[in-house]
Amino acid sequence: MATALDKMAVRSAANGTETTVNVLVINGPNLNLLGSREPQIYGADTLAVLADRLAAAAQKTGVTVEMFQSDSERELIARVQAAGGDGTDFIILNPAGLTHASVPFRDAFAAVSIPFIEVHLSNPYAREPFRHRSLFSDLAVGVVAGFGIRSYEFALEAAVSHLAAR
Ligand code: DQA
Repeated sequence: MATALDKMAVRSAANGTETTVNVLVINGPNLNLLGSREPQIYGADTLAVLADRLAAAAQKTGVTVEMFQSDSERELIARVQAAGGDGTDFIILNPAGLTHASVPFRDAFAAVSIPFIEVHLSNPYAREPFRHRSLFSDLAVGVVAGFGIRSYEFALEAAVSHLAAR
């Protein structure tokens, strides 16, 4: 999903100029199964519903939103590396199970220095102890967790406000 809305722009508080803001939403392993995967934890909405909701939010806030999902750590790292040179301004990241385990995926974020918000559908701190540690949170601008797919909408709002205040 890539939504370009040229009438919309985020005005930078720093110099008053208008620029289009490109937000990349990255979903890690098993999030392709949203809707059918443990719906009592992750909700009944699919990834396609999430894409629609973010497209609508993007239209309102005036950013472009692209979504990427992979089960492959290698592909996820490659997408983050590519984001370092493709005009991505901000990343909304749900690393899924890699949150608690992947040093290489974390290192990709440290390497590109693109600001990002970590999101989770569930609240990992209310779950098993092994989910209480994130390898990403200390690099993130912030973390939104526990609100189902609304976590992503809140994160998009926060991303726009963060970028506008730069
Ligand atoms: C998750 C939480 C992780 O602990 C889990 O491994 C996921 C999804 C969430 O969105 O709640 O796959 O990131």
